[in-house]
Amino acid sequence: MDVTFKTSPTTSTLAVICHESDALTGEAETLNAAQNGALSKAAASARFKAKPGEIVDILGLSGDKHDRIILLGAGECEKADARVWEKVGASLVKKMLVSGESEIDVTGVPDASAAASIKLGAALAAYRFDDYREVKDDQKPTLTSFGIVVSDVAAAETASIVASADAFGTNLARDLMNMPPNDLYPESYANKIKELSDLGLEIDVLNESEMEKLGMHALLGVGQGSENHSRMVVMKWLGGADKSAAPLALVGKGVTFDTGGISLKPGPGMEDMKGDMGGSAAVVGAMAALAMRKAKANVIGLVGLVENMPDGKAQRPGDVVKSASGKTIEILNTDAEGRLVLCDVLWYAQDKFKPKAIIDLATLTGAILIALGHEHAGVFANNDELANAITAAGETSGEPAWRLPLGPAYDKLIDSKIADMKNIGGRTAGSITAAQFLQRFIENDTPWAHIDIAGMAWKPANGDPKEPSWASGYGVRLLDQLIADSYEDKA
Ligand code: BES
Ligand code: MN
Ligand code: ZN
Repeated sequence: MDVTFKTSPTTSTLAVICHESDALTGEAETLNAAQNGALSKAAASARFKAKPGEIVDILGLSGDKHDRIILLGAGECEKADARVWEKVGASLVKKMLVSGESEIDVTGVPDASAAASIKLGAALAAYRFDDYREVKDDQKPTLTSFGIVVSDVAAAETASIVASADAFGTNLARDLMNMPPNDLYPESYANKIKELSDLGLEIDVLNESEMEKLGMHALLGVGQGSENHSRMVVMKWLGGADKSAAPLALVGKGVTFDTGGISLKPGPGMEDMKGDMGGSAAVVGAMAALAMRKAKANVIGLVGLVENMPDGKAQRPGDVVKSASGKTIEILNTDAEGRLVLCDVLWYAQDKFKPKAIIDLATLTGAILIALGHEHAGVFANNDELANAITAAGETSGEPAWRLPLGPAYDKLIDSKIADMKNIGGRTAGSITAAQFLQRFIENDTPWAHIDIAGMAWKPANGDPKEPSWASGYGVRLLDQLIADSYEDKA
C-alpha cells in the first residue's frame, strides 16, 4: 500500500476527518451539503461521536464525485496529538485494507505533522505477515493507494521522513520476530541483516571462531547446545559531522529460540520464544530507520545471535564460564541465557568502540511482565539523564518505558560461592538482578541503560489498529526518537 500526499481528493471513496462536536463542520459540512444531508443522517443513525478512530461507512451515495464516504473521528480538535492522528490513519487502513476498495483519500487533515502521523499509523496498520500461507482471495489486501489531502505537499513530505523510516524499521522488526525459528536462526539472521548494507549501513558478521578469539565464552556457551552456530553482527551508521566522534552503541539480545536449554522451559507457549530475539530486532529496525532517514549521528548496533537448545553438548547448571571481560560466571540456570549473551556483546561494544553511551534491549525476564504487563518496558540505568531521556522518548514516540531501581543490595544477590558472579538471583526482584548482572560489565561509568522489553516485543491482541500482529516491533520508534532528541547533530 502506497501512502501519498496530494492537494485535492481524486478517489470516489473519500474519508473525511470529523471532530467531536454536535454537527459536521469544515470539509464534512461541505460534503454533507453536496449529498443532501446524507452524512448527517448517517452520523445520527450510527450515534457517531467522532471519537478518535471511530468510523461510519456510508455506501451507495449518488453524488457526482463520491459514492462512498467514510466519516472518520479524530476526537476533540484541541486534543488531537500525534497518538490520535496515528490512530486515525491506522483505523482507516484497518477498515479498508481488505474491503475490496483499491484506493481512498482522506481529507480534513489540519497540517503537515498530523499528515505525517496519519501516514505512520496507516503504514503500521497495513502490516501483514503472509509469507507462510496461501491467502484466500477475499482475505487479500485490496487497498493499494492511501492518499492524504494536505495544502502543502512538500511540507507533509518533509514532516514524514521520520514516519516513513520508523514504519519501515518497525515493520522490519515485526517480520524478523514473526519468522519461524527453523528459518530465522543465527546464520540466516546475520545474512538478512547483511542485506541492509543497501541502505548504507556498514555490516560485519563475526563467527564462532572469531568470538572464541575474543574470549566470548559466555555467549558461546549459550549456543553450544545447538546445531545452529552463533553469530555477532555489528552495524555501523556514521552520519555525524565528525565520523570519528564517540558513537552511541545499541546492543540487542538475539536469542532466535529459547528452549531454556538444560533448564528446559515448560512446553505450553514455548513457541513464543521464537520472539526472544526482540531486542535485536529493535536494534536492527532502528539502525535501518537511522540509515533510511540519514540521521546525523554516529550509532553502532550490535546483536548477539544464538539459539538456546539442550543437546549433548549443551552447558549444564553448575558450569562456570569465563566471559570476554575476564569475569567468571557460575551458571545456575541455563534459561537465564540472555544476560550471558549480552555481557559479552556489551563488553565488545565498549572495548572496540569506546561509546559515549550504551543502551541494550532484551526480552530478558518474565518478571518484567509481572511488574509492568504489556504497557511499559522496564528501564534500568546508571545515569539519570539517560534514563530520563529514554522515558521521555518513550512518551513522545508512543512506546512507553518506566524506570526501575538498581543498587548494591540487589547487586549482592548475584554473588557466587565459587565464581565472580552467578547468572541468577533469588525468587525476588528478578528483572533487577538481571540488570545488576549486566551492570557488572559496564566500565568507567559509561552512561548505560538496559531496557527489558519481554512484555512489549510481542503481545496478545489488544485491539490497537496499528498493532495488527503478535509482534509489535517495539523499540524502533523509541530508539529513533531518543537519537533525534539527544544524539543528533543539530542543523
Ligand atoms: N527469554 C526469557 C524471558 C522471557 C519470558 C521473555 C517471558 C518473554 C516472555 C529469558 O531468557 C528467561 O528465560 N528468563 C528467566 C530467568 C530466570 C531463569 C532467572 C525467566 O524470566 O524466567
Ligand atoms: Mn531463557
Ligand atoms: Zn531468553
